Amino acid sequence: MSASPILLALREATAAAHETLETEARIEARLASPETRPATVAAFYRFHAGVEPVSHDLTARLNTEIGGGFEPRSRAGGIAQDLAALGVAPPAAASVDGPASPGEALGWVYVAEGSMLGGRIIRKRLTAEGRGLEGLNFLDPYGEETGARWRAFITLLDRACAAGRAEVDQIVKGGVEGFAFAHRMLRSGAQEVAA
Ligand code: HEM
Repeated sequence: MSASPILLALREATAAAHETLETEARIEARLASPETRPATVAAFYRFHAGVEPVSHDLTARLNTEIGGGFEPRSRAGGIAQDLAALGVAPPAAASVDGPASPGEALGWVYVAEGSMLGGRIIRKRLTAEGRGLEGLNFLDPYGEETGARWRAFITLLDRACAAGRAEVDQIVKGGVEGFAFAHRMLRSGAQEVAA
């Protein structure tokens, strides 16, 4: 199967932002340490609780209109349960200047859904280091369904463009803005863990 040109455009436009998040935001180290884990999970809550209200309705409507096979699902509720397991109340949601079109909304959902792919890998690495996974269920909400769900999302991207309901430029704009929002939510606190 050849890669979707829309996915390739999104990747190209956001690869550097992803790399920065992986390295500078020090997410894995902050999740590994018991001192910094609760605040880091709370930062993920703020990210998803910010993205979902501004992008899920537009995406769900588009999915219904073009008969796609991808329904957005909230992760904020699951993260709130993880926070409860860590003894922390969910923080207030950040206000978001969100997507203005269905195409941009798809770009935001790309960032939120894609974060699941790395989440599974983080859990495996922490387990290999002998760390507990308390409060980290949100990193793998779909288990064995992860790959199928990701492919369904890519199909929605392709169909939305083929049906003239979204433009590649809008989707890429949404992806870039979604990553900028992720940076704002996830980078604070990165200085609290030793390099
Ligand atoms: C230490 C933290 C992270 C690690 C180690 C990581 C790692 C990865 C890996 C290995 C993939 C590719 C998975 C695959 O192809 O099966 C991936 C994909 C992705 N990740 Fe991350 N990630 C991290 C954090 C994040 C965060 C915080 C976000 C967004 C909020 C994010 C967004 C994405 C997106 C959108 C993709 C899909 C890329 C594509 O295929 O086009 N990641 N990540």
